[in-house]
Amino acid sequence: MKIAFFDSGIGGLSVLHHAMKILPNEEFIFFADEDNVPYGTKTREQVLSYVEDAFKFLVSQNVGAIVVACNTATSAAVRAMRQKYSLPIVGMEPAIKMALDLYPNQKFLVTATEITIKGEKLFALIDRLNARKFAELKSLSPLVEFAERMEFNSAAVENYLRGEFAPYDFKNFSSVVLGCTHFNYFKDTMKKILPPHIKFLDGNAGTLNYLIKLANLKSETAKKIPPVEYFYSGRRVTSEKELARLEKYLRRLDDMYFI
Ligand code: DGL
Repeated sequence: MKIAFFDSGIGGLSVLHHAMKILPNEEFIFFADEDNVPYGTKTREQVLSYVEDAFKFLVSQNVGAIVVACNTATSAAVRAMRQKYSLPIVGMEPAIKMALDLYPNQKFLVTATEITIKGEKLFALIDRLNARKFAELKSLSPLVEFAERMEFNSAAVENYLRGEFAPYDFKNFSSVVLGCTHFNYFKDTMKKILPPHIKFLDGNAGTLNYLIKLANLKSETAKKIPPVEYFYSGRRVTSEKELARLEKYLRRLDDMYFI
């Protein structure tokens, strides 16, 4: 099946990267809305209109399912897209259930973009899981632009993260939930700053498990690399330079995978 992965930018590559490891028999389209990234600091209406345009394009590519590999777009637009289209649509959800299951009765820090942190969807999830006592919320929107510039461990990134993490006493926390797909690129920098017991949790595996169920796919350990077509805001990426840029992100994700 041809499956689309959609994000505001290169964050969604972290979900695609995982999919390439466990779904070798499918074909992928990766759509990064590079003309409009970042989404997290825009209005919900703006994000909805970007997502509408992206979906129009992706549906015209005859995909069998769309993974919204972006927590922000999921928060602002996934419900509307499900009302409009009948193909399987899978969104992202911050890994709050995972934090509670793995580390019961311990606090955790949910990091995401401004839109996700302020969104009703996150509050509904926290309430549904009875997690108010344990979940602290922190917007780290500027990381999206650092990631787009391929700046992962500069002094500026480190100083920014040190400042944002400073108010928390991490002795009492089990983990940091990466509620934005762009944040996976910063695990080594975060690890350097945070105490060694802090774990990083993301929603990638959960999202793909749901996709596998919904689209009836067969998962196995990949022995070959499945084909991927890359698009920036609907334009096919063909230049050597841009393909090399995307490849660099994927190699960085190889390094982040086991942190
Ligand atoms: N990667 C997106 C997410 O998971 C957001 C990035 C943005 O702000 O554009 O939330």
